[in-house]
Amino acid sequence: MRQATIKAPGGLENLAIGEAPEPAAPGPGEIRVRVRASSLNYHDYRVCLLPGALADGRIPMADGAGEVEAAGPGVREFAVGDAVVSCFFPEWQEGDERPVDFSTVPGDGRDGFARERVTLPAAWFTHAPKGWSHEEAATITTAGLTAWRALVVDGGLKAGDTIAVLGTGGVAIYALQLARAMGARVIATSSSDAKLERLRAMGAEHAINYRTTPEWGEEIRRLTGGRGVDLVVEVGGPGTLAQSIVAGRPGAHLALIGVLTGRSGEIPTALLMARQQRLQGLIVGSRAHQKDFVKALEATGVRPVIDRSFPLDQLAEAFRHEESGAHFGKICVTI
Ligand SMILES: NC(=O)c1ccc[n+]([C@@H]2O[C@H](COP(=O)([O-])OP(=O)(O)OC[C@H]3O[C@@H](n4cnc5c(N)ncnc54)[C@H](OP(=O)(O)O)[C@@H]3O)[C@@H](O)[C@H]2O)c1
Repeated sequence: MRQATIKAPGGLENLAIGEAPEPAAPGPGEIRVRVRASSLNYHDYRVCLLPGALADGRIPMADGAGEVEAAGPGVREFAVGDAVVSCFFPEWQEGDERPVDFSTVPGDGRDGFARERVTLPAAWFTHAPKGWSHEEAATITTAGLTAWRALVVDGGLKAGDTIAVLGTGGVAIYALQLARAMGARVIATSSSDAKLERLRAMGAEHAINYRTTPEWGEEIRRLTGGRGVDLVVEVGGPGTLAQSIVAGRPGAHLALIGVLTGRSGEIPTALLMARQQRLQGLIVGSRAHQKDFVKALEATGVRPVIDRSFPLDQLAEAFRHEESGAHFGKICVTI
């Protein structure tokens, strides 16, 4: 079977496509999955770029979707032919014992889904939403579930709330769609006027260019009559957090998801305290969260926005497309 691996010393130019032996037949509690699609996340990009940090030969990609080819003894949840999607933290099945690092994450601490077949525990997957393509389903594992957890699990989103989403990447667009489907209002930002138009067309009540309006937090306050938003989907990190605090109402939930602008920086702690806001870091979610999310996707009819798909042998080109920032929503890989 074909697979992609990251060769030492890392970097997109060292992503290699090669042949590998087929995986073993599934043992007790395992399934063999014909992986049909993955989707790109900033996390996967960082993993591929990190020089020397990973074992030579690591198979990248945290997201995997496909169909069950064979089920081992004792597997009751899945049958041959079922469409499944992988879990970001395979061992975080449910509850509050959150993983604290990426050592168990496919495509990082262990091999991921840039390959045609895997034999793995059935509990490392959930069903995909009915009627979805494998590419659509692949977007659930990381970007989709992160948006769901930020809004619903941690953020307690309810109809009538107003949220802010930053930029037009995979997490932000999912968050916009979920919030709209759940009856919330959305204010979105982007660096591109063309993308701002698309955000408005998708239901954003206001769309702000964060390049030409660097004080976009103040602008959000103005647009909300001085109140501020209930929740911010914070994907920028140190370069955007100060404006997110400005944009949030007193008591707002700030879901700290990303570090697109860097890994550390200054936070206006006095303002955060004065506004009595809740700043909460999160990394994706558990399998139980994913099962709830899949149900919500089926009920709301939300379908992910796929910017573009690349075949597996063009994985490096797919990452270069992500690197360019030209995308809107998710970039997928067909396998
Ligand atoms: N904590 C978690 O569980 C988790 C899960 C998934 C992702 N993440 C993190 O979340 C971040 C976004 O991930 P993603 O997969 O959605 O990335 P992505 O698809 O690559 O999105 C990147 C987009 O972010 C926007 N952006 C860049 N700099 C910005 C800034 N200063 N202000 C506002 N928007 C900015 C750009 O939008 P425009 O082109 O419109 O300007 C860009 O297209 C990354 O840091 C990623 O590691 C975290």
